[in-house]
Amino acid sequence: MRAVAVAHPNVALIKYWGKRARAGNLPATGSLSLVLGGLTTTTSVRFEPGRRGDLVLLDGREDPETSARVTACLDLLRREASVTHGASVESRNDFPTGAGLASSASGFAALVTAGAAALGLSLPAPRLAEIARTGSGSAPRSLQGGLVLLTNRESTTVCEQVATPADWPLEVVIAVTTTGPKAISSREGMARSAQTSPYYDQWVSTHGHDLSAALAAVRDRDFPVLAELAEHNCLKMHAVMQTTRPPLLYWQPATLACLHRIRALRDAGLPVFFTVDAGPQVKAVCLPGAAPEVARELSRLEGVRQVLQSPVGEGARVSAAGD
Ligand code: PMV
Repeated sequence: MRAVAVAHPNVALIKYWGKRARAGNLPATGSLSLVLGGLTTTTSVRFEPGRRGDLVLLDGREDPETSARVTACLDLLRREASVTHGASVESRNDFPTGAGLASSASGFAALVTAGAAALGLSLPAPRLAEIARTGSGSAPRSLQGGLVLLTNRESTTVCEQVATPADWPLEVVIAVTTTGPKAISSREGMARSAQTSPYYDQWVSTHGHDLSAALAAVRDRDFPVLAELAEHNCLKMHAVMQTTRPPLLYWQPATLACLHRIRALRDAGLPVFFTVDAGPQVKAVCLPGAAPEVARELSRLEGVRQVLQSPVGEGARVSAAGD
């Protein structure tokens, strides 16, 4: 009744920001992401017969909002296994939690992988992805490795691996500018953007083009085209965020300094582009070989506290099972 799983966060190159339905946590758009193999979440789940309720520790601490989302996910697994046992869950990240490094994606991918194994369930991959999605819209993308395409279907989403880590061994340099958890969760931020940003509808209606063009660029391994599309899509999402009321201004001065430096490096011939999620950290996606110089350049900028490097990683997997 116990299993441990590991999963990595992912970074979207073509992003999702907004829901089409709150029920089932369905995204308004598809997305295309890359799994960050250098950052790891490890989650242990133990179901205890006779236990009422779940105990959820994230980096050693209890948080009511996280616990409620974890319990909702575990309820779906319990229903699949026809059991009612409460669980104790312990999850640790080897990187800053809740600060725009997609810890919710790796967290829920590891949770459902460990939870299903602990219950002896071998669910079809699409069902496991649906359960992970109820916890975090980006979590299904961390169940698979490499570059992953998430597309909308009538009442669900499907994920497909479009390149393995070996197919396109990109490297990501992560510039950490602030490490505190963000003030507004992505879930709350998306709801506010949909209600108040004058650009939200255009974000959704122009998204399909970005996604199909980026998918073609990945299939052609066309880095310059992917670079232009990913930066455009990222800045479009941040334009929606910044024009939300009250504004979601996730950037720090160091965030902007990184964006300028990455553009200058690319103009100087280095194969690198940026992307930024709901936080102040910058991810610089590089062709193999460019990462050391990008890391050196970003670490010199004022306000950059830490620079991490990550290869493209594998999907979530069970690392230990049994009592
Ligand atoms: O999965 P969530 O609910 O934490 O939302 C993720 C949203 C972004 O990271 C900003 C974009 C994305 O597609 O990952």
